[in-house]
Amino acid sequence: MRGKIDRAINIADLRRLGKRHLPRVVFDYIEGGAEDEIGLDENTRAFARRKLVPKFFTPCGYLDLTTDLFGKTYAAPFGIAPTGFAGLFRPGGDLLLAEAARAENIPYIMSGTCNAAIEELPEICARNAWYQLYTGRDKAIDEDIVRRAADAGIETLVLTVDSEVRTKRERDIRNGFSGTGLKTLAFLEALLHPAWLAGYLASGGMPRFGNFAAYAAKPEDARAVWAFMTGHLPGNPLWGDLERYRRLWRGNLVVKGILHPDDALRIVDLGADGIIVSNHGGRQLDRAPAAVDMFSAIKAAIGGKAIVMLDSGVRRGSDIVTALCLGADFVFIGRAALYGLAAGGLPGIRKAITILRHETETVGRHIGCGRTSDLGAQHLMRASGDGAR
Ligand SMILES: Cc1cc2nc3c(=O)[nH]c(=O)nc-3n(C[C@H](O)[C@H](O)[C@H](O)COP(=O)(O)O)c2cc1C
Repeated sequence: MRGKIDRAINIADLRRLGKRHLPRVVFDYIEGGAEDEIGLDENTRAFARRKLVPKFFTPCGYLDLTTDLFGKTYAAPFGIAPTGFAGLFRPGGDLLLAEAARAENIPYIMSGTCNAAIEELPEICARNAWYQLYTGRDKAIDEDIVRRAADAGIETLVLTVDSEVRTKRERDIRNGFSGTGLKTLAFLEALLHPAWLAGYLASGGMPRFGNFAAYAAKPEDARAVWAFMTGHLPGNPLWGDLERYRRLWRGNLVVKGILHPDDALRIVDLGADGIIVSNHGGRQLDRAPAAVDMFSAIKAAIGGKAIVMLDSGVRRGSDIVTALCLGADFVFIGRAALYGLAAGGLPGIRKAITILRHETETVGRHIGCGRTSDLGAQHLMRASGDGAR
């Protein structure tokens, strides 16, 4: 497998390797979007529609990717978005993502529905780890989780607000995907993926959702924890909840899943430090616009009062460069990291990060930039297609 990872030259190669490793039901969970997957496809198309206009006679022998964010210096202008259920793709998947982030010095956002527990993070990457919270029905439990994140040394809390409705992901419905175990057909299909199945069985079958174990009737039982978690989530966060978290959380507060400039403005007025413009990788509202298409309006609404980041659809360094040219302070990758994880565990994730870092550097230099701060709207073709801005 290591040789194959070494030979992968782009994220699509890692995706192919990851797809081969996983039973279809699991790959579909990573890959799928809501309903007709219009939003999912639109994410990559919206990036591809944007053209980068090179400028020459500039010093661009090297592009320094180091980026300062919330008082820390990271090695690249992108990090790993929160993704639930990573323990199903490779045993210990969440902690492998965290370890890769530490090794590559980029941020890692631990998902609110991860399989590891917050308490496992400090040993691996407290410095690089952020924590993502889905607000649930029981506010006391949410607040306890937030306290645990603070105790673990987490400095940045990400509230995801676009998942208040249980989404209709048709691949998962057809496959009978659930956190309680593999249905017979899926299990038979898993026999065709013996390396994955061996890891799944050796690690005890369906991974449990570590952060919720403490609140479930039987903390050791994955089914009991799943039952608890699906009773608690999704909640329906309201503006008062954001105010409450602003009071409770002394660190950086980021709100993820924002697509409307009015929301962005109000979030920042309520004291959030940053937002992540995102359509959840096309997994929630199928007819939502691509994050990259809403980015400029949101950036303009906020007017420099907070950090504005973006995810959804990033598969190439040119996507990252495009986002930075639009004014993104930072970018996150979801599936690109998961393809690496599925393809080859820790080396696979590190390979995904390396590929994107190299591509970002090459494309940035192509358009004539020697520092990420040189990337700007002057390098974007006008939407009307009649010249650079
Ligand atoms: C398998 C999977 C699980 C995800 N789980 C979460 C989650 O637990 N919390 C969250 O805020 N977003 C979650 N997301 C959304 C990602 O954080 C991110 O917004 C999205 O993946 C970005 O799109 P991309 O995959 O095209 O990069 C998940 C995405 C995927 C693919």
